Amino acid sequence: MRIIKNVSEMQSFANSLRAKDEKISFVPTMGFLHEGHLSLVEIAQNNSTFVVVSIFVNPTQFGPNEDFDSYPRDFERDKSLLEAKGVDVLFAPTKEEFYSENHLTYVQNGSLSDFLCGNSRPNHFRGVTTVVSKLFNTVKPHIAVFGQKDAQQVLIIKKMVQDLNFDIEILVGEISREKDGLALSSRNKYLSEVERKDALVLSESLGLAEKMIFDGERNSELVISKMTDLILEKQTARIDYAEIVSSESLEKIDFLKGEILIALAVFIGKTRLIDNKIIKL
Ligand code: PAJ
Repeated sequence: MRIIKNVSEMQSFANSLRAKDEKISFVPTMGFLHEGHLSLVEIAQNNSTFVVVSIFVNPTQFGPNEDFDSYPRDFERDKSLLEAKGVDVLFAPTKEEFYSENHLTYVQNGSLSDFLCGNSRPNHFRGVTTVVSKLFNTVKPHIAVFGQKDAQQVLIIKKMVQDLNFDIEILVGEISREKDGLALSSRNKYLSEVERKDALVLSESLGLAEKMIFDGERNSELVISKMTDLILEKQTARIDYAEIVSSESLEKIDFLKGEILIALAVFIGKTRLIDNKIIKL
């Protein structure tokens, strides 16, 4: 596996691959890799001839009181995991390499970034769309793979690709979970033993909502109130949001119909976790 830390080296390498008719697929990550990330690598491998993974903890998508400094990092472990998986290139620039000191330009999505996580993390998606644009212009992939775990991120990236004419196909991988249902996340590392148990309530409350809906409930508020009750039984849990929205527009739905996204962000202690489920009615 080749490791590239430099933007211009990555760009010229991508050009040479394209000249040889390689099909480049790309999995952007912030590292501290888990099986969820690796499942996206598999999708990339199955759909291309050359796989690039990036590791870059992107400062512009973290708020001033968020965990940029403490975000878990373990480059050596990540490197071995990617090598063992057969990844071709690991692109891992430093912050200084990737953002010049006088960086001024941002990519900003409209209304899709006002909902859900956008409410509690102002400027988060501006940071994501900006860094993903920069990564796309550096890695020059034909295909990029994202995880459904970050459902809103997927929608915003797809819209960005369409609106800005990026010639890149976006593929989406399912949410990878622990055996007991907890969605894999680099941030699970922050959880204490008690919090790890309480964190299960995210997937449990999504299961409860799904059951209510399959049993015929169509009143969104009622479903959300049952989910909320279940979550708040846990001592360490504090709800950031629990919403049922259109899976396309992310607008709230009162009477459940069509394709809906049940989306959750819950603080377990100090750790903010997200999870979601799409249901087609
Ligand atoms: P990160 O949180 O490291 O996630 C990288 C990719 O892995 C994202 O597409 C995310 O949705 C996916 N992922 C995370 N947990 C997953 C799980 N349990 N199952 C399947 N896929 C999962 O998302 C980011 O980084 C950043 O915002 C990034 C796109 C790299 C831009 O900085």
